[in-house]
Amino acid sequence: MTTFSYTSEPAAKVRTGVLVLPVFEGPEPGPGVKEVGLGSAFGDAKLTGKPKESLLVVQRDGDGFAARAVLLVGLGPRDAVTPNGLRRALGQVAPSIARFGSVATTFPQAVARRSMPDAIQASVEGLVLGAYRFDRYKTASNGDAKPLTRVTAIGSARADARAAREAVRRGQIVAEAVCWARDLVNTPAGDLPPAEIAREAQRMARQVGLRCKIWGKPELERGGFGGILGVGAGSVNPPRLIELAYTGAGRARPYALTGKGISFDSGGLSIKDGKGMETMKCDMGGAASILATMRAIALLKPKINVIAAIPSSENMPSGSATKPGDVLHHRGGTTSEVLNTDAEGRLVLADALAYLSEKKPVAMIDTATLTGACMIALGDRIAGAMGNDDGLILDVIAAGDAVGEPIWQLPLYEDYRRLIDSTVADVKNIGERYGGAITAAWFLAEFVGDTPWVHLDIAGPAFLEKKSDLAPKGATGVPVRALVRYLLDRAA
Ligand code: BES
Ligand code: ZN
Ligand code: MN
Repeated sequence: MTTFSYTSEPAAKVRTGVLVLPVFEGPEPGPGVKEVGLGSAFGDAKLTGKPKESLLVVQRDGDGFAARAVLLVGLGPRDAVTPNGLRRALGQVAPSIARFGSVATTFPQAVARRSMPDAIQASVEGLVLGAYRFDRYKTASNGDAKPLTRVTAIGSARADARAAREAVRRGQIVAEAVCWARDLVNTPAGDLPPAEIAREAQRMARQVGLRCKIWGKPELERGGFGGILGVGAGSVNPPRLIELAYTGAGRARPYALTGKGISFDSGGLSIKDGKGMETMKCDMGGAASILATMRAIALLKPKINVIAAIPSSENMPSGSATKPGDVLHHRGGTTSEVLNTDAEGRLVLADALAYLSEKKPVAMIDTATLTGACMIALGDRIAGAMGNDDGLILDVIAAGDAVGEPIWQLPLYEDYRRLIDSTVADVKNIGERYGGAITAAWFLAEFVGDTPWVHLDIAGPAFLEKKSDLAPKGATGVPVRALVRYLLDRAA
C-alpha cells in the first residue's frame, strides 16, 4: 500500500527515501536543486539537463538535505516542460528508485503555475505507473520488487494547497485504476475466464459504490445476445455481460462505455498459430480499461451519469464452437455471417453496442484490442479512432493528448462499407485483406443506430512487447487515463 501526500515544505527538509529534482537543459538547476546544496554538482558531473539523464547523490555527513538520496533528472529545455513530460520522466526513473521506498519530488514546480494541478497529477501517475510490477506469479525467492511506500508531491509555498491535495488524490485514483487494469490484463487467461472477470467487476463495484448486474448464459439467451454467446460457444467457460452504472447527475442522459472482453483469443476454429496466441490473454484489455475507468469515476464523483456494458467470452475451438459460415443473431435483431471466427471482438461488441444504444446515451465509446491491421497502420504506441461523430472523436483525441495517450483518427470511409456486405446475412464479419481496422469499425457502426459513437482500436498500445517509459513489458492500462479525462472534462 502506497500513501500519497502533498507538502510545501522546502525540498531540503522533506524526510524521504529519495528526493527527485529536475535539471533543465542548459544546464540549469530546477526547483530545489540549489536549496539542497547541489547547485555546483553540475560541472563536476557534466550534466546537460537533457531528457533521460540522471544522477544519484547519496546522503553523506554534512549534506544539506534530509532525504537519504537525491536524484537529479534531466527534463530538457525549461520552456518545453509539460505535465506529460513530467509523467514520462518520472516513469522512466521510477523502477530504479522504488527500492528507496518513499519518493518525494519538486517536479510539479517545473511547469507554469496554471498547469500546477495537472503537473501534480501527472507526477504522481508517473511514479506509480513507472514503479508498477506484476510479480504475483513470482515465488518469494525471485521477488526482489519493493512497492513504493509513500509518494510526496512538493509544491511551492505560493501554491493553492487545497487544489494541490485534490490533484494528488486524482493522480492516486487514476494511477491505481490503471494498475488494476494492468493486473487484470497481465493475469493469465487460465485464471481469469469471463466468470472471474465478472466477479472482479462485482467486487470492485461493491467497494466503490457502483450498481452492478451480471448477465449469465440463460439471461443472455433470453436477451438475444447471439454475438456474445456465439463467440463463447466453443469454450467450457461460459460468457458474461457485465453491466455497471454510476449516477452523478440525477436523471441526465448517460455516457455509455463498452470494451472487448475476450478472456482468451485462440482464434476459434479459424485458429491462430502458436506465436499469434502467445499474448492473447491481452484480448480483454478493452474490458479491463472500462472497468478501471468506472472505478476511477466512482471515486472521483463527477456530475455526470455513466453506464457500461462489457461483454466477455472465451474464443476457443471445439465441437460446439461457432463455424465459419454460421449466422449469429445479435441483440436488436441484426444478423452477421461469421466467415472467420478469429474476427470475434466485433461480434461481442455488436451486442453490447446495440444494448447500450437502447438507453439513448449522450455518447458511446468502445475500446478493443480489435485488429492487427490497426497496429500495422499506427504502430504499437498509438490507438486508432473511428466513429460517426467528428466532434466526439476530436474530444476523445484531445483527452488522450492531454494525458499522454496518443490516439489518431482513421477514416470511416463510406465506400468501404460494402466490403462487409454478406450474401446470406445483414453483414459479414470480415472484409478484404486491406483496411482491416476500418472494415472492423464499419461492422460496429451497424449496431450503434444514430447514437454518437467512437471506437478506439487499442490492439497496439494495450499490451507492449518491450517496456515503455510508463510500464514494464506487458499490459499498459491504455486508454484509462484518456477516458477518465474525457469524462471529467464533460462534467466541468
Ligand atoms: N485480438 C485480435 C487482434 C489483435 C492482434 C490484438 C494482435 C492484439 C494483437 C483479433 O481478434 C483478431 O484476431 N483480429 C484478426 C481479424 C481478422 C481475422 C479479420 C486480425 O487482426 O488478424
Ligand atoms: Zn481478439
Ligand atoms: Mn481474434
